[in-house]
Amino acid sequence: MPKPLYDVLILGSGAAGLTLALRLPDWVSVAILSKRELREGSTYYAQGGISAVLDANDSTEAHVQDTLTAGAGLCDPDQVRLVVEQGPRCIHWLLEQGVRFTRNGQASTSDGYHLTREGGHSHRRVIHAADATGKAVETTLETQVRARANRSLFEHHIAIDLITGRKLGVEPDRCFGAYVLDLKRGQVKTFRARFVVIATGGASKVYLYTSNPDIATGDGIAMAWRAGCRVANMEFMQFHPTCLYHPEARNFLISEALRGEGGRLLLPDGERFMPRFDERAELAPRDIVARAIDHEMKRLGAECVYLDISHRPAAFVREHFPTIYHRCLELGIDITREPIPVVPAAHYTCGGILTDAQARTDIPGLYAIGEAAYTGLHGANRMASNSLLECLVFAFQAAAHIEQNLPDQAPPPAVPDWDASRVHEPDEAVVVSHNWEELRRFMWDYVGIVRTNKRLQRAKRRIDLLRHEIIEYYGNFQVHNDLLELRNLVEVADLIVRSAQRRCESRGLHYTLDFPWEDPDQQFPTILIPDSYRPRS
Ligand code: FAD
Ligand code: SIN
Repeated sequence: MPKPLYDVLILGSGAAGLTLALRLPDWVSVAILSKRELREGSTYYAQGGISAVLDANDSTEAHVQDTLTAGAGLCDPDQVRLVVEQGPRCIHWLLEQGVRFTRNGQASTSDGYHLTREGGHSHRRVIHAADATGKAVETTLETQVRARANRSLFEHHIAIDLITGRKLGVEPDRCFGAYVLDLKRGQVKTFRARFVVIATGGASKVYLYTSNPDIATGDGIAMAWRAGCRVANMEFMQFHPTCLYHPEARNFLISEALRGEGGRLLLPDGERFMPRFDERAELAPRDIVARAIDHEMKRLGAECVYLDISHRPAAFVREHFPTIYHRCLELGIDITREPIPVVPAAHYTCGGILTDAQARTDIPGLYAIGEAAYTGLHGANRMASNSLLECLVFAFQAAAHIEQNLPDQAPPPAVPDWDASRVHEPDEAVVVSHNWEELRRFMWDYVGIVRTNKRLQRAKRRIDLLRHEIIEYYGNFQVHNDLLELRNLVEVADLIVRSAQRRCESRGLHYTLDFPWEDPDQQFPTILIPDSYRPRS
């Protein structure tokens, strides 16, 4: 089996992975892996936009302060400042790559770009491409990366596990590559690299209802944890308040920008309810809006609430929200005339692999960027449109650090092939499909928007059982996509529940009826340490 060697192996091709691939110079050989087609990931579906200080009336201080406020005391202020200060530079880079953001409108930057508003932001500072910002970013970066020299793209390749010095029993300890399943050929390949970067996105598929595409199974977080990296703040899973509630549309988001442009949340009887919960009403941070909706749905036994923008001129709605307008119309909802049925759904993983300002993890040679990483930016709650910005900034940081260190980095040692000699053809696929369903359902029911000690204990007991079964199955049968994803999902579910059990207070996105108040003595991140962790020397 050939064992390719690259300077840099990037696991993931969303905004984080592709930005890194483009920021590295041409002399660096780069392999980019993607589980599906290159563009399939959360980035492609991002709607609202990217936050950055682009308007003369806005300021770095204001963006920093808004981010810290949303993060409920758990943001790392240095990382927040780094990200906010780099924001304008990253947006200009995207413009240079060819991303066509929406121009003009009533509020605009000096360059004439329209800035929208979202929850938690004290200013209009979200640059966007109508309501399909992610598509504009992802397809532009994809075009650029396909045209670049020395970039090898591997679609339909799923990384299974990282190859490290401690696994191989060699010194120095370092990440040397990854074992990867070629999904088209059913073959496990060995990828060796001087540097490895995890850019595999979030883990919201651990919940039954999510705005995320199917790839969001937390693979990178689980792989890094198994390899010996610390993870942080996994209890802070963000639920987006407004996903479309319709039997024929899974995962379709109704952007927060709709509320930014005046959309109002209504109960089934037409009452506007958000002012009862927060003075910022529909533009309160997401945790507050999602909890208010959850509360009202449970109180009334309602299947959904409604988001209404029909009081704005129809032409304005069609121009600003063409994607949402057309998708809803296909489903028989004319958003210029009637309210949209919505429910909260799992949306964003605020925690992840612990990284520093250069995006380095605990394992030398291994970096993590994008939604898979915990950088300290989001704290206990991510402010809308800060995550694409985070993808860009830490891709820039990682690229600079790797480029600087590459000339001194020796190639990795010989690595043994993947050993499949003791496994058989899978016998009962139902084990995987059943456990997949069960896990996502009890995570939704017990570890969702409102938690209790009892619910977390119930979830933990079930996770322990499933984990045992899945690891046994993994050890006996040939690997395939669903098994690998399920193995990662159960690992991530365990990290979420254990982190939630540690936090005996309600803060940001973590809300528990047993400790309904914020406790100033618990104002620190939840850091989980794997048995195999070794501090960097
Ligand atoms: P992704 O874009 O999710 O890409 C992950 C990549 O990793 C994919 O290529 C996938 O195939 C690959 N991968 C995963 N596992 C493996 C594996 N084992 N092996 C190989 N490859 C693997 N944020 C904003 O800032 N503004 C917004 O307006 C906004 N809107 C959103 C709307 C929706 C519907 C969603 C779902 C999210 C939104 N977000 C938004 C969040 C934001 O889109 C994501 O946080 C961000 O795009 C994550 O980028 P990423 O590069 O880290 O991961
Ligand atoms: C949205 O458009 O509502 C999503 C924005 C985000 O998740 O940052």
